[in-house]
Amino acid sequence: VDRIEFQPIGFFCCDNTQRVEAPRQATLAPNSCGYVQLHSSIPLSVLEDLEGFERIWLIYHFHQNSTWKPLVRPPRGAEKKRGVFATRSPYRPNAIGMSCVRLEKMDGHKIWCQEHDLLNGTPILDIKPYVELSDRFDQTRQGWLENLVEYSVDFSRQSQEKVKWLEEKLGKNLFDLIKNQLSFEPTNSKIKRVEKCGEYFCLSYRTWRFDFELTQGTVSLVDLRSGYSSAELLSQDDPYQDKDIHRLFLESFPL
Ligand SMILES: C[S@@+](CC[C@H](N)C(=O)[O-])C[C@H]1O[C@@H](n2cnc3c(N)ncnc32)[C@H](O)[C@@H]1O
Repeated sequence: VDRIEFQPIGFFCCDNTQRVEAPRQATLAPNSCGYVQLHSSIPLSVLEDLEGFERIWLIYHFHQNSTWKPLVRPPRGAEKKRGVFATRSPYRPNAIGMSCVRLEKMDGHKIWCQEHDLLNGTPILDIKPYVELSDRFDQTRQGWLENLVEYSVDFSRQSQEKVKWLEEKLGKNLFDLIKNQLSFEPTNSKIKRVEKCGEYFCLSYRTWRFDFELTQGTVSLVDLRSGYSSAELLSQDDPYQDKDIHRLFLESFPL
């Protein structure tokens, strides 16, 4: 067989539209929620007896990737490129992803899931129950992952208040996003939008800037700021259609 064709059984629906908004792994986003919308031609009997399982595997196509690389720089352990088959990178010769998500409930052709790392619109190829007997192995060697340094991520009161404000306005889980971005290699600009800004480091997300500092094993979020200058905010030009939120932010948290 030199060619295999699959038809998606459905599509994933959630708020993650950009890659950076999805966590690196399903289990790292306890608050992420979404659903598989099964194709209406699939008989609902396929779901019989699935309800009692706490977790299910979603097998899917990384539809937003059209290329792959033999060596990739994973967000964790990014000081060195790794063979793609030694990673869970989405850039693989066959762009197939697998996530063990929490099954929340089933409602007709909708299968609601929590703790996922998928993007909106992801074509779903298959669903299988997570079975401890076959899928769980305790204390296995973890190769290059064993030597990684994980940072804890703290928020100053000021930054916490601002991030919460912005979360509500954008409807995005920014606390998880920041933790996922900064708990490994927080200052590695090869794999994230991070740079040195004066005495702090700064992580960019869309047009927002998160200032942080590093102290022994901890990333401390110091502040959240607008990425626009005052002159830019005065101008009517608004290519990202987001200046109103920035203006409101500055009114709520004056400099
Ligand atoms: C490191 S991969 C791991 C995926 C899966 N848990 C696995 O191990 O195969 C997770 C990243 O894949 C990306 N991703 C999720 N759905 C995608 C899609 N449909 N197309 C391209 N990238 C996607 C998101 O940016 C997410 O952060």
